[in-house]
Amino acid sequence: MTSPLRFDGRVVLVTGAGGGLGRAYALAFAERGALVVVNDLGGDFKGVGKGSLAADKVVEEIKRKGGKAVANYDSVEEGEKAVKTALDAFGRIDVVVNNAGILRDRSFSRISDEDWDIIQRVHLRGSFQVTRAAWDHMKKQKYGRIIMTSSASGIYGNFGQANYSAAKLGILGLANTLAIEGRKNNIHCNTIAPNAGSRMTQTVMPEDLFEALKPEYVAPLILWLCHESCEENGGLFEVGAGWIGKLRWERTLGAIARQKNQPMTPEAVKANWEKICDFDNASKPQNIQESVAGMIEVLHKIDAEGGVSINHTSHATSTATSGFAGAIGYKLPSFSSAYTEMETIMYALGVGASVKDPKDLKFVYEGSSDFSCLPTFGVIIAQKSIMGGGLAEIPGLSINFAQVLHGEQYLELYKPLPRSGKLKCEAVVADVLDKGSGAVILMDVYSYSGKELICYNQFSLFLVGSGGFGGKRTSEKLKVALDVPSRSPDAVLRDTTSLNQAALYRLSGDWNPLHIDPNFASLAGFEKPILHGLCTFGFSARHVLRQFADNDVSRFKAIKTRFAKPVYPGQTLQTEMWKEGNRIHFQTKVQETGDIVISNAYVDLVPKSDISAKTPSEGGELQSTLVFEEIGRRLKEVGREVVKKVKAVFEWHITKGGDIAAKWTIDLKNESGKVYKGPAKGCADTTIIISDDDFMQVVLGKLDPQKAFFSGRLKARGNIMLSQKLQMILKDYAKL
Ligand code: NAI
Repeated sequence: MTSPLRFDGRVVLVTGAGGGLGRAYALAFAERGALVVVNDLGGDFKGVGKGSLAADKVVEEIKRKGGKAVANYDSVEEGEKAVKTALDAFGRIDVVVNNAGILRDRSFSRISDEDWDIIQRVHLRGSFQVTRAAWDHMKKQKYGRIIMTSSASGIYGNFGQANYSAAKLGILGLANTLAIEGRKNNIHCNTIAPNAGSRMTQTVMPEDLFEALKPEYVAPLILWLCHESCEENGGLFEVGAGWIGKLRWERTLGAIARQKNQPMTPEAVKANWEKICDFDNASKPQNIQESVAGMIEVLHKIDAEGGVSINHTSHATSTATSGFAGAIGYKLPSFSSAYTEMETIMYALGVGASVKDPKDLKFVYEGSSDFSCLPTFGVIIAQKSIMGGGLAEIPGLSINFAQVLHGEQYLELYKPLPRSGKLKCEAVVADVLDKGSGAVILMDVYSYSGKELICYNQFSLFLVGSGGFGGKRTSEKLKVALDVPSRSPDAVLRDTTSLNQAALYRLSGDWNPLHIDPNFASLAGFEKPILHGLCTFGFSARHVLRQFADNDVSRFKAIKTRFAKPVYPGQTLQTEMWKEGNRIHFQTKVQETGDIVISNAYVDLVPKSDISAKTPSEGGELQSTLVFEEIGRRLKEVGREVVKKVKAVFEWHITKGGDIAAKWTIDLKNESGKVYKGPAKGCADTTIIISDDDFMQVVLGKLDPQKAFFSGRLKARGNIMLSQKLQMILKDYAKL
């Protein structure tokens, strides 16, 4: 059983609570612990007269039942007075129920100015005045619940109620905007259109219906919408007789009645009328962005296609289906992008790698002997390859970027990403799925270094509102997200993101202003700029890599994630992990809210045994081995001569994956010199530590040893000056 919804300590102002619906609300709130302000002007249903009796009676009734309430007799037109009563009596205001109302029904031609004005003043202006007086208090306390009372007359129109309909739908407009403006301060505003027997409806309702439609059947909805645990905001509900339904807008797919560079004519509108009014496959725009985005899409379409034929009569569904089907298999133009160690490091910092953790140094310092590119960097260039305009070019798909959501991501690596390099990406539309509320485009991107395939990405892009075209729901090409095990996690790692996290992450190439620009974020319906989903993805993958692979990037095989909810910079990411063999299931939560932000995710690791089988033992498969052996052979011929020039013993520590994989000694001091595996038998003059890869880069002349030294990639101990002579040795004796 769910626990009862209580309002202890909450201060609730109900306007027009001296009778009818308002009275039922006031009693219900008080019964559940709220401190109630019963506002009522006490006039008749036409707004004539005033008095204190109506409000007093309800206050008495509440008190008799053990509740707490005070009366206020002011008109809602002086809303600040009602709010002041709440503040004076109880010190705060948490809930406002705008309910007061009157009627001046007249057929349109008989409405007098006064009939018009008083209805607007009491309903629309009254709701505005009361709410405005409470608003700043709610903002300050970062909490508020507001109810607006509209009416079926406003929504649908009703004979004899032009004045009332106008005011009641005006109230809905007011509520829609308050829902948007209040969201960031946890102020929710919802609207109801009730049906109940009251003095207002007594004369128009049949008696049995009047009796049956009790105000008590409306009050529970108000209480739920005003409870602190209710997340609903900006909703519109019809309610009565114990039934509650939610309303939303629906918009036909419509038709374009204009062609590029042609005047638009009423004849074209007429010709398209059937289609303009055809609600089949209608969309349901939920906010102004979705509404406006449709217009932008139209402009793109007209511009790209030269407009559709004004006589075009084919059904919208068939256009959509054939369009989507035509997109499958389409290859985007190939795309190449180079990256340096700076980009590698910037990405690592963007996904939270930090010098705080010594084990992260390998990701943020190019001089680390085991400097590595984080595996999830593999999404970056692939993403650039599809976002760089290519998506907009797919034939048959008109993609409106404002309506694209990044739903899921799969990344598989065939070998660790180079620390710097150039990747060429080939992207193809693998499939298009119909999820009803939207279409999902599966974009497969293959990234090559030269001819070698380095990684594969699958982006699942959700196109809001483009579904319902009769396509298939799933595809064998889809990399499937998996449920996490039901037991408690085997490991949990946390990282608090910085307030600058998105500002830093975007430097890796995702420039969407949604992640940095407060105005843009608020237009998109967020209280502030949100973190990139792929940034959270990077954090989570790092957690798995650290927890189960000791940060060894060569063990990272693949990752699949589903993006469930947004994250705000500054929040703490908590990755919960379950080990099942070499698959690590995980989900990521925002610690502060408990919200799951990445769900149904996993990382596949390369088994440790496979790695150690490949890891050379004492130089087994190190590339440098061949070079040392070759130097040894050459020394046999020219050793004496070189010994005379150099007179030093060099000990080499060749590293692989951060560990010393081999030691070699080049003795250019004694006799005719020699090269042997292992540490110097006597005392080494200089010890040089370098990775196998960097050693080869030096030998092949691609890495300057001095630069390598100053950037920390080559470390030298002992007589460092002597190491300068090495360049000569390597140059002369290692040309393989
Ligand atoms: P009601 O007439 O029983 O209650 C309205 C209350 O508001 C009265 O007690 C009245 O004294 C008070 N009031 C009127 N003007 C005021 C002012 N300027 N300042 C403060 N209080 C004032 O009517 P009912 O049915 O309970 O209506 C409540 C709300 O629900 C109204 O906004 C009405 O338009 C709306 N509504 C009701 C429907 C129904 O089926 N009862 C249908 C659709 C909407």
